[in-house]
Amino acid sequence: MSNTPIALEQRNAALEAAFPHLIRDDSPSKSVGAATTAQAKFSKITHAVPMLSLDNAFSRDDVADFIGRARRFLGLDETAPLPLTAEPKIDGLSLSLRYEKGVLVHGATRGDGREGEDVTANARTLATVPHRLAGSGWPDVIDVRGEVYLRHADFAALNEAQAQAGLPPYANPRNAAAGSLRQLDPAITARRPLSFFAYAWGEASAAFAATQMEAVARFADWGFATNPDMVLCADTDALIAHYDSLARRRAGLGYDIDGVVYKVNDLALQARLGFVTRFPRWAIAHKFPPERAQTILEAIDIQVGRTGALTPVARLKPVTVGGVVVSNATLHNEDFIAGRAQDKATGGPVRGGKDLRPGDLVTIQRAGDVIPQIVDVDVGARSPDSVPFAFPTICPCPLQTACNRDEGEDAAVVRRCSGEFACPFQRLRHLELFVSRKAYDIDGLGPRQLQDFFDRGLVKEPADIFRLKDHRDTLLTLEGYGETSVDNLLAAIEARRQISLARFIFGLGVRHVGETTGGVLARTHGSWSAFKAAVDAAAAGRPGPDYLLLEALHGLGPKALGILLDRVAAGGLHVQADLFASTADLLPVSGLADLPAPARRALADAFPVWSDFEATVKAAAANRPGDAWIGFAAADGVGPVAADALIDFFAEPHNADAVARLLAEVTPVDAVAPKADSAVTGKTVVFTGSLEKMTRDEAKAKALSLGAKVSGSVSAKTDLVVAGPGAGSKLAKATELGIRVISEDEWLELAG
Ligand code: IVH
Repeated sequence: MSNTPIALEQRNAALEAAFPHLIRDDSPSKSVGAATTAQAKFSKITHAVPMLSLDNAFSRDDVADFIGRARRFLGLDETAPLPLTAEPKIDGLSLSLRYEKGVLVHGATRGDGREGEDVTANARTLATVPHRLAGSGWPDVIDVRGEVYLRHADFAALNEAQAQAGLPPYANPRNAAAGSLRQLDPAITARRPLSFFAYAWGEASAAFAATQMEAVARFADWGFATNPDMVLCADTDALIAHYDSLARRRAGLGYDIDGVVYKVNDLALQARLGFVTRFPRWAIAHKFPPERAQTILEAIDIQVGRTGALTPVARLKPVTVGGVVVSNATLHNEDFIAGRAQDKATGGPVRGGKDLRPGDLVTIQRAGDVIPQIVDVDVGARSPDSVPFAFPTICPCPLQTACNRDEGEDAAVVRRCSGEFACPFQRLRHLELFVSRKAYDIDGLGPRQLQDFFDRGLVKEPADIFRLKDHRDTLLTLEGYGETSVDNLLAAIEARRQISLARFIFGLGVRHVGETTGGVLARTHGSWSAFKAAVDAAAAGRPGPDYLLLEALHGLGPKALGILLDRVAAGGLHVQADLFASTADLLPVSGLADLPAPARRALADAFPVWSDFEATVKAAAANRPGDAWIGFAAADGVGPVAADALIDFFAEPHNADAVARLLAEVTPVDAVAPKADSAVTGKTVVFTGSLEKMTRDEAKAKALSLGAKVSGSVSAKTDLVVAGPGAGSKLAKATELGIRVISEDEWLELAG
């Protein structure tokens, strides 16, 4: 038997379950933060009774239909009473707590409903989760279920602490609650003020109530927090009245709710109604519509991103929407502000083409996790002297660099500052990426600290971070810094002087070169010097503008283009033509008559005049992509756009110099070359379902090191699917396409 703290704690819990009268006051199961040892990974717990989900209703009609269905199923006529409960639908995450002989033995998340994660140690740290049931009359075995959530005030305090620690904020209370409950170190969960409402149950070895109302009253007797807004309703009118009441009081409840849950009160009727696949027939969630509110658009601020993109943000007069105070909303881009962008839902212009101006009375909407949106503007309320918002054409930074409109292939309009390395905003955004989790992952150095160090001139570029140790005395004079925090920060920085090549490349902050591309480049080239040499060689073989012009012509495929340029390179255009001879006339007699008709048409349309055509194809033949460029861009996950971005990056002397200064401080560690002869070399692998012996990241890293490609979706190109429990649509697709599917164990064997 294992003697790890977790195993000992489980044994203790089992003993306490068997002999509850012997539980000692100083039992580890009683202390908040018991078993404060971090685990590597959560183990799984199979729910004795699956944790199901609820069907949704969005209108009064949906609710009436639900009740009608239940009545028909039970054979009740319209006059027979069918009382239902109505209670808030808490926007948190569900937790199942198993009590044996009144003692908490384990806690599990919902997971896929059948099997969840064992979060026992964390669940014990919640003040509202009793370690022993109070009162009496509880069944020997009972799974009490409910919702873990964070109150608004606790959420705000947590995000403040995150910011102080240089960590990113949580997007909303639900994400924060989920993140907190799923901490591998229970000591961290213990510091998070999570709350819990009990509202349901799974396995129960004996009946303990006759109605839903009574069951919840028992939970309260046993020491659980239950929701004070649960009421018993006689009919649809009463349910809707409670729904309306909660909708009105929603903002003042102090925690997020996203609807009202109705449940048939009589447990005998619940048992008869039973379940349809994923939902009970005896309950439904009546969801609130996305919350809307009117407020004043006080200002339109422009933020500058790492790649210079100007991103407009709406500054709003603070207003409560769906229980959360909103003071910012996304404005997307200049066309969205002008009312020119397309509304995806209607296909017409956004807000019916109405533009947005500072001072406007606007309607905002917040739905779930989505960033608040401005959905309407009251043009009638606008003052007569208001003028349309002029989107800046110069960067808001002190350098005031020109910002040009960049209409990407995906028709996303972005205005971009051309200042690059010179623009302080872009520098700061790059520093933020540099220290972020997927790059150098430096603890204690987040956006706040970087802004501060940047403003004081301590850190202007990545290399400066590694020279902060020379400014220890200055750091000690800064507010919020003491000996310990400064030394911790400097130690965290020192620990990164050796950095994987993949992180080093990603940390350069090159446009279009994200974490994945950084990894591919590192594995493909192995060392920094090989990578850099490959970029330089690719630069020499980069296709020129004339080639790109021809390549983009519709109707001229790669094959025809190849033939054309081969012919030209071999000196094949022997046509004497006057200046204005037409391409259409001359093509057939120029030795190019054998080009496919669509290709000839495309060329004649693009270059009506022969001399233009001749000049372009001659230039294109001279600047076709070289093998080094083709090879460099061909690696999976790199592609021509990232390849060119890297070439451009190093061609800029400021960038090359900054990289040289960084290389004086840090050493990129060579990537281990993927195996060229493993069973999966060159194969495309997809992992789906849950893995039990390793994390997804581990599995992925292993596959990559074996020379495989890892993809997130199954297609005809997939060679192998590794499917764990809970695998769904990907597994179905693989079976349909006849792709080989193996288990986790088989994968481990294959991977050696
Ligand atoms: S009852 C068999 N009551 O909503 C159904 N669920 O969409 C048992 N939820 O997974 C659930 N508040 O996490 C119930 N008062 C409430 C709830 C509630 C929130 C969540 C729960 C469930 C999800 C279903």
